[in-house]
Amino acid sequence: MRTRISGATCVLPTGLSRVDLLLEDGKILGIDPPTTAHADETIRADDLMLIPGVIDDQVHFRDPGLTHKEDLYTATRACAKGGVTSFLEMPNTKPATITRERLHEKLELASSKCLVNYGFYIGATPNNVEELQQVTRTPGIKIFIGSSTGDLLVDQQAALERIFAETTLPICAHCEDEATVRANSERLGGGTKYEDHSLIRDVNAAVIATKRAIDLAVRHQHRFHVLHVSTAAETELLRAPQGLITAEVCPHHLYFNVDDYERLGSLVQMNPSIKTSDDNEGLWRALKDGRIQVVATDHAPHTLEEKQQPYPKSPSGLPAVENSLALMLDCVNAGICSLESVVHWMCDAPARVWDMVGKGRIAEGYDADLVLVDLGKKQTIRNENQQTKCGWSPWHGVALQGWPVRTLVHGHTVYLDGQFDESIRGREIEYDHSRGGYWNYKPE
Ligand code: DOR
Repeated sequence: MRTRISGATCVLPTGLSRVDLLLEDGKILGIDPPTTAHADETIRADDLMLIPGVIDDQVHFRDPGLTHKEDLYTATRACAKGGVTSFLEMPNTKPATITRERLHEKLELASSKCLVNYGFYIGATPNNVEELQQVTRTPGIKIFIGSSTGDLLVDQQAALERIFAETTLPICAHCEDEATVRANSERLGGGTKYEDHSLIRDVNAAVIATKRAIDLAVRHQHRFHVLHVSTAAETELLRAPQGLITAEVCPHHLYFNVDDYERLGSLVQMNPSIKTSDDNEGLWRALKDGRIQVVATDHAPHTLEEKQQPYPKSPSGLPAVENSLALMLDCVNAGICSLESVVHWMCDAPARVWDMVGKGRIAEGYDADLVLVDLGKKQTIRNENQQTKCGWSPWHGVALQGWPVRTLVHGHTVYLDGQFDESIRGREIEYDHSRGGYWNYKPE
């Protein structure tokens, strides 16, 4: 089966270009093929932009064990709608993904439930170094240096030194200093208001932990990805040019700040916490000047009932996969950033950070994971239209211009204008860790 996509303006590695694409066997066969080249079907895409599928390298899809919040099927419907064609999921499910056996169980589950491509991190514990050394079929190791949802935590120095010294897979971490968080919490008697969350998980907690993790990475010369940077102060730490460190920011840390607690309460309670408008600006600066390479969501659904409990019982986290691309496209329309930058942050950079084979670019031989985008389409985010099982969005009521309208996974249309092809299944993502990550791999 050969498919031609015709008439779209494509975001190629070399820039914008109005060329046709030929797809075959789930891959990009040709760019700008002769008009006479045979195709079994043609997708007309005049007035649309064609971008590589979004790769979200930080999501919590709750499957197995917490499937009243989300599961791999509902989450990947949300992905398909949002233009996310590949995801990397975190290990804080129930049971946690801390052994090869658990990882393989998750991969098996994903093969039957996921509408888009999938990958799963292995979680570090204070004593599973042997597992971390032997595991394959994973992008890398996730460390909770500060605790969040679930009970994964490694904050003893000796255990951290061992993980950085004795393993070779790339490492990413949730950086909030546990001791600082505990001390702040005690000082505030545990907190009573949602806004106390940002006083407990404060700038210091983030900076101390990020500094500690970068120090470990540099001393052990170990590749390290800082997840969800939330403060302008941390972005200063990302200036060190070691070629080892990459970093990520989430749309919610670019958008929300402590002034939003009044309007949104626990809906904007997440870890790391939201900070100030100066932090929003500092994060944008670091993203634009290349200190932060990746935009990902940390999609972390909880039911509204759970969220509505009083602080500190209210859990941290918010859903975002189905709106992250549209939020960034709206920024393109607002003149804040270019479409090429969005494609770099959400497609090419995560593929390079995690050594993904055949992903992140529109180039010959790459996987035909593609998204058609209508930069003129205006739509308002509404709770009742969300595909995520939790059924709400902190952006409810927000009007955005620029939406994905058609999503292809390995050349098959999984989402088109509000409709899903539920027969489509994504594939396990492949990694080639010999590439050496974002700074060392130079695709042709
Ligand atoms: O707010 C958060 N919630 N941050 C995390 O890192 C974990 C997540 C969750 O799993 O609920």
